Amino acid sequence: MLLKNRVCIVTGASSGIGRGIALEFAREGAHIAIADIQETPLQGKYHEQDVTTTTVHEIENLGADGIFIKTDVSDENQIDEMIHQVIAHFGGLDILVNNAGIHIPGNSQEISIAEWDKVLSVNLRGVFISTKLAIPYLRKSKFGRIIQIASVHAFGGGAGPAYASAKAAIVNMVKDTALEVGKDRITVNAICPGYIETAIQDYLTPEQIESSLEKNPLQRLGLPKDIGRAAVFFASDDAEWITGTSLLVDGGASAKA
Ligand SMILES: NC(=O)c1ccc[n+]([C@@H]2O[C@H](COP(=O)([O-])OP(=O)(O)OC[C@H]3O[C@@H](n4cnc5c(N)ncnc54)[C@H](O)[C@@H]3O)[C@@H](O)[C@H]2O)c1
Repeated sequence: MLLKNRVCIVTGASSGIGRGIALEFAREGAHIAIADIQETPLQGKYHEQDVTTTTVHEIENLGADGIFIKTDVSDENQIDEMIHQVIAHFGGLDILVNNAGIHIPGNSQEISIAEWDKVLSVNLRGVFISTKLAIPYLRKSKFGRIIQIASVHAFGGGAGPAYASAKAAIVNMVKDTALEVGKDRITVNAICPGYIETAIQDYLTPEQIESSLEKNPLQRLGLPKDIGRAAVFFASDDAEWITGTSLLVDGGASAKA
């Protein structure tokens, strides 16, 4: 087991990619706090229609220890309270995964300023606050890890201005945080997923989904587990000398010039 008894927080882990990360961490022997606004998993229009059990239930089925802590990452008081609950329950913190994210479709003329603020408050401000409040505890760990979930949209347009800006900012933020906490032997990296089959894709048309599939060199769309295994690698001892990087995990979709 690569993460035996490591204590992790995964935000947004009731559904989708966060759930995939939490389950792969559980398979590797970690203890996991699920920090999400709701415990019930999202069921998508195209993907994950049949997901009904909670992430904690599945973690326990894998023989690991999990707790759900209701948390809105756009609220600093809730993040602070969540981290205190994790420390009280598990006695420390080794790994923070900032995964919670939302997408509101629309270009600059279609999304409102309030929608811009909402996307940035979850996808960027929430990442900063969780990172800031977790670092004092990660400093006490011998295995400190911060893993931020960005996106292929950090590097290109087409997902709307707010979402892309937040994800691009995370790619830079991991470098800054890596410099800050390297002396504490905490590593900080981002994973940039391509199309992963989750409920966040509900805004797409079946034709757009088909087109994403056709453009993928590996001829399938991604699954939450694909991101989960990349996160296990960054969290493991194998990645102890890797920091300040962003890893594209997109089945090769952005390989073509
Ligand atoms: N699915 C993809 O193709 C894809 C691609 C690139 C990046 N991402 C990123 O991966 C992350 C996870 O996306 P997903 O596809 O699993 O989405 P999802 O919609 O399936 O799941 C998101 C989870 O986050 C939770 N959440 C939403 N707002 C929250 C808040 N304010 N506080 C706490 N939890 C909150 C939701 O309840 C849900 O459980 C996001 O950051 C997303 O931007 C996804």
